[in-house]
Amino acid sequence: MTSVFLEHSATCPLFGAVEKRVAVPGLIRPTLHLLEKKRIDQPVDFRREIHYTYYSYDTSRIVKIHILESNMIKKVGIIGCGQMGSGIAQVAAHADYRVIGNEVSEELFQKGLHRITRLLDRAIEKGKLDSPTREKILGNITGSTDFADLADCDLVIEAATEDMTTKKEIFAELDKICKPEVIFASNTSSLSIGDLASVTGRRDKFVGLHFFNPVPVMRLVEIVRTIDSSDETVAAAREFAESLGKTVVMAKDSPGFIVNVLLIPYLLDSIRQYERGLATRDDIDNAMKLGCGHPMGPLTLADFIGLDTTLFIADIMFDQFRDSHYAAPPLLRRMVNAGYLGKKSGRGFYDYNK
Ligand code: CAA
Repeated sequence: MTSVFLEHSATCPLFGAVEKRVAVPGLIRPTLHLLEKKRIDQPVDFRREIHYTYYSYDTSRIVKIHILESNMIKKVGIIGCGQMGSGIAQVAAHADYRVIGNEVSEELFQKGLHRITRLLDRAIEKGKLDSPTREKILGNITGSTDFADLADCDLVIEAATEDMTTKKEIFAELDKICKPEVIFASNTSSLSIGDLASVTGRRDKFVGLHFFNPVPVMRLVEIVRTIDSSDETVAAAREFAESLGKTVVMAKDSPGFIVNVLLIPYLLDSIRQYERGLATRDDIDNAMKLGCGHPMGPLTLADFIGLDTTLFIADIMFDQFRDSHYAAPPLLRRMVNAGYLGKKSGRGFYDYNK
């Protein structure tokens, strides 16, 4: 059996990782040619181990080695364990990342963890998950109420309240605590990533990583690149999202990115048509479900996203574009002011308390 040892490191352009060159003891010319680089079957493991096939000049021997990667994302901090944060924590833990879920209180972290546990238990009941995997996922998640616990993370994803001031305060604080090479990402659905990055000293290591709800089910991640995001940061973010089994689309740092700039006007128009009495709530929803094959109608979807979130995104886009497409209908604003926030508050266009 050929023994190999690691000689030195170089940057691997394909994976943005560290590629180790190897030397085979006893050979006259120790430098080996890289012939083939292939991922192993499980995308999860590929992050940790990459199989290289090396060919030596002088003996024609093929040497297959496993190389443990050393500088890739392994530990992920997630700020906020609400609907989105807990979903991101779940999929990251499932993909074998060590996850630290940061919340403002232990109680809120436990609430997020409970949401994850409930979903995992439901998946077990359906026969879609086994108990060891459930234990692995939960074992990969730790709670925290102190940003200092995120100091040695490789990636921090913020999924806190959609408020520019709050998010800027979080990133300014994290910037002081986290090591310089840590990548920062925001899951914001509408705020400017460039504006958020501006409060840090690492604008090149900052991207948007926009997941969709429910995170374990929806297969998309929008990566939002600012004028300052570096190629390496974007490559690492893409590799991370893909290792979770997501498909990545790249978007400019423009209000609503790709999905919301198209989705929100559709939801607002649906609410407007309901408000002006075009059809009943159920008929509007059924029309789009059965006529267009959407998984849920627009009024249900607005409830599902949260009417406050829908209004918030609409207001940001209207403020930026000054275009009536993005103007929130009065009914939406009235419902939000009255505390009808959709599914999460028990009442929106539908009553979820029944
Ligand atoms: N979390 C995790 N999994 C969930 C879930 C949740 N909240 N809700 C449903 N699921 C899972 C179910 O367990 C089920 O899984 P299996 O197939 O493995 O059994 C699967 O989703 C289908 O669920 P159901 O059969 O109960 O119901 P469904 O067929 O209606 O699907 C749905 C539910 C996936 C949510 C589907 O209705 C859907 O795709 N809706 C549209 C969702 C959408 O558009 N999301 C994007 C919102 S926009 C956004 O997030 C971005 C933003 O910035 C606003």
